[in-house]
Amino acid sequence: MTTSRIAMPSLHKKIMSAADAARLIGHGTTVGMSGFTGSGYPKEVPLALAAHIEEEQAKGNPFRVKVWTGASTGPELDGALAKADGIEFRLPYNSDPIAREKINNGTMNYFDMHLSQVAPMAWQGFLGPLDTAVVEVTGITADGGLIPSSSVGNNKTWLDRAERIILEVNNWQNPALEGMHDIYYGTQLPPNRVPIPLVRADDRIGQPLFRCDLDKIAGIVVTDTPDRNLPFSAPDASAMQIAGHLIEFFEHEVKMGRMPENLLPIQSGVGNIANAVLTGLVDSRFENMTSYTEVIQDGMLDLIDCGKLRIASATAFSLSPEAALRINADMERYRDRMILRPQEISNHPELIRRLGCVSMNGLIEADIYGNVNSTHVMGSRIQNGIGGSGDFARNAFVSIFVTPSTAKGGAISAIVPQVSHVDHISQDVQVIVTEQGLADLRGLSPKQRAELIIEKCAHPKFRPMLADYYARALKDSYGKHSPSLLREALSWHQRFIETGSMEA
Ligand code: COA
Repeated sequence: MTTSRIAMPSLHKKIMSAADAARLIGHGTTVGMSGFTGSGYPKEVPLALAAHIEEEQAKGNPFRVKVWTGASTGPELDGALAKADGIEFRLPYNSDPIAREKINNGTMNYFDMHLSQVAPMAWQGFLGPLDTAVVEVTGITADGGLIPSSSVGNNKTWLDRAERIILEVNNWQNPALEGMHDIYYGTQLPPNRVPIPLVRADDRIGQPLFRCDLDKIAGIVVTDTPDRNLPFSAPDASAMQIAGHLIEFFEHEVKMGRMPENLLPIQSGVGNIANAVLTGLVDSRFENMTSYTEVIQDGMLDLIDCGKLRIASATAFSLSPEAALRINADMERYRDRMILRPQEISNHPELIRRLGCVSMNGLIEADIYGNVNSTHVMGSRIQNGIGGSGDFARNAFVSIFVTPSTAKGGAISAIVPQVSHVDHISQDVQVIVTEQGLADLRGLSPKQRAELIIEKCAHPKFRPMLADYYARALKDSYGKHSPSLLREALSWHQRFIETGSMEA
């Protein structure tokens, strides 16, 4: 199959079937794939690789690979490879249910890491060699430039580091994506690092295309399979209440002179609540806002459409199918309002600190002192991974975490005496919001934080239990700085495991 998207004729001879491309990948090797949330991941080669793996395993030949990506991907990649039992090691983020099961039953190794650190760590050599890059692109220009697709992720690094490159040219991606991307090639390793010259969310500091050594291209596969965009659920009452508390908080910060009238660049995490907050901002009085974030969600399109968001800078789209249609129908207009960058830039601590991002991320549970667990259910089962939440939380102007106050139909309190796993230490958690209220923890001691979190964030069903625990900890704890009853601190989790509920 040929394609008009490959404007360099000498590359046409490299076009091949996905099955032939998959055979270029060997057992035990490392594959760096494109993809970030449901966008921009290769759709054909991983499926063909999964089929090849199954064939080899049926013959009694072991066949597993190590898979690196930008973040989560789609069922054609993580789902298919995990189902074939073909992933030996995975980094840096996963939300696929089959892969999650393999990780949690101990048959797949998973390195859950800060998304900003993946590319630098690959360059530092800690992750080992990268054998093959499999990268989706929108097209190839006449002089061999690669037009990125709907996510950038770690593609620049995979293309540079891999010994061999397989490209998937996806005709479904809108050619008008060309020009939206800003690929920065100036990152270095110490001692040669220099400041990254980005001072506003809308600065462009790189180039619109990837470049790669064309001799490394071993195969090109043509596809027209769409991104796997998932619908957002309509914001429920709890998400709307959380959005309301946050908008009130922003109003207050502006009134106190701590934030400008158009706020500071907004970072909004993955999931339905984050999207509901963005939707809530549509009806707020804030104008001329900017966003420096990881993914562009539906709520950001709404904010752009109503003229309130000037620029959305991210590394990927994370859209519902309806929003993907909307953006595809009007790409030229959106292209002026959106910039997609490598994730080492979208999530760079230096830039997040410089811009003063307002970060908003989800959590699994928080404890009364404000430590946050974003990743592990009952201390040992991974849900997804830390993603970019740590990159943003530590470096934000104000670091906010949002959650419903209970989970699993009310059986679990999201506020617990002690988190069963820590991703964000209390110093990196400044505001916690549930549907019950907002706790502004800035400048407070551990005891002051505990009182506020119990009062403002806990569900009324669990509030007396938390207050009782805290009162006894104040009396009987070994130290009185962060009072804790060690025998009891994790007993709520144990009770859930044993009885299916944290209720006493
Ligand atoms: N105990 C047990 N399970 C819990 C829980 C708790 N305290 N809190 C949430 N869960 C479960 C939910 O029940 C749900 O499970 P299900 O899929 O079986 O129904 C699942 O975790 C997801 O929770 P949900 O309520 O749908 O929230 P969400 O979509 O907002 O996701 C996180 C919440 C924490 C999982 C998600 O925000 C995340 O992965 N965060 C880490 C990465 C991150 O922050 N990325 C953005 C950075 S830019």
